[in-house]
Amino acid sequence: MNFADLLCVMSKSSSTDRPAKTATVRGSDLASDFTSSLDVDRRMYKEDIAASIAHAKMLGRQSIIPQSDADAIVEGLECVRAEIEGGTFAWRADLEDIHMNVEARLYELIGDVAGKLHTGRSRNDQVATDFRLYAMRRADEGLAGCRRLQRALLDQADAHRATLMPGYTHLQRAQPIVFGHVMMAYYEMLGRDARAFKSARDTADSCPLGSGALAGTTYEIDRDFVAGDLGFTRISRNSMDAVSDRDFVLDYLYAATKAMVHLSRLAEDIVIWSSQEFGYVRLSSGYSTGSSMMPQKRNPDYAELVRGKSGGVTGALMSMLMMLKGLPMTYNRDLQEDKAHLMDAADSVQASLTACAGMVSEIVVDESRASEAASDPALLATDVADKLVREDDVPFREAYSMVKERVFGDADGSESLPWLTARESVAMRDVEGGTAPAQVSESVMRAYGELWAARLRGEW
Ligand code: ARG
Repeated sequence: MNFADLLCVMSKSSSTDRPAKTATVRGSDLASDFTSSLDVDRRMYKEDIAASIAHAKMLGRQSIIPQSDADAIVEGLECVRAEIEGGTFAWRADLEDIHMNVEARLYELIGDVAGKLHTGRSRNDQVATDFRLYAMRRADEGLAGCRRLQRALLDQADAHRATLMPGYTHLQRAQPIVFGHVMMAYYEMLGRDARAFKSARDTADSCPLGSGALAGTTYEIDRDFVAGDLGFTRISRNSMDAVSDRDFVLDYLYAATKAMVHLSRLAEDIVIWSSQEFGYVRLSSGYSTGSSMMPQKRNPDYAELVRGKSGGVTGALMSMLMMLKGLPMTYNRDLQEDKAHLMDAADSVQASLTACAGMVSEIVVDESRASEAASDPALLATDVADKLVREDDVPFREAYSMVKERVFGDADGSESLPWLTARESVAMRDVEGGTAPAQVSESVMRAYGELWAARLRGEW
């Protein structure tokens, strides 16, 4: 069935009268809505104006335009920025994007000299520059967000270096661990996320301005000056690559996706631990919501929302990969869609990092309930096997079978197994990276040092 037939069938089955034919819609009727990116890219106004100011200063320094014109342009741009920040800027929906809005207002403010700003520049290298600066800012925020969550995890780990709970594999009780050890596991994950955000920032840190539309420019511009003025440490090396390269968006989105996958796992653990069935932690009222119908409920909505948002961020990464696949050289308008993906993902990941940091720091661990669950003697089965190996020289495989028979043979395996306690069991796992409180304490101390160093580097 073709589309027209399908439409026909659908309109017949509908009780409401539909017009026989839809009116012809021309592209120009859609134009301002369909082709506009203003609603999205106006969030980059700071970067757009900073890049224009750097470009104008360079044009003056290189005597490509008179210094007095450059000064007038810079002053005008500062005025535009003040208007945007003061909320008095009149946004024009008939102009496609942030770049055209700023330039149009500059004309109104300083007259025809505004037309000199775009000398030796194209919107293609302009938008790539703005968006890289924006991505660098959001990557810095992501890094800081990771560090703050690491700090919250670390404080809980510090407080619970010796708090027993069951550790799980396959969501089945496996061996006793300490709560601090789980917190430090998430600390490690977030440390890798911090590194990924740093690396995404590094990918973005290359100034494309000077690439023109695709082939470079005929003016004697000073690319290094512009790059340095904007805080870039490198300039792009190929103009065609520079106007079409969005790898920095991919790197940012991969960092954001990986972080969201980690946060989603944390969220899921919190949902499980805070359920009545487990009851190892209690959520603060600030990070849980009551039910409108059931007065006894304390729902983990924040954790669930974090888990839910991870889908959207992963989707943004997929969308971006698909958008870039098969784009011919060089700039294509498809690329305009890149900003919404990064901005939405950045909003989600920032909000989720903040929510998780708050949630984690306000969690109250029910120590007696957690340690009671950890004292299930079946959890000590591995230790009994290890004891047989160590003291009776039984090969591990054989010891394993003997213990397995006893655990599953007795109605209550506890009868034959409790020769040590859960506390002793964790203390014995005194290997680097193990759950012994002594090891957890050491990781906690090392981690405080790491976060301190990160603070000195200005990461958060
Ligand atoms: N609004 C456009 C974008 O975000 C700006 C670049 C337009 N360049 C062009 N050749 N049409 O991608």
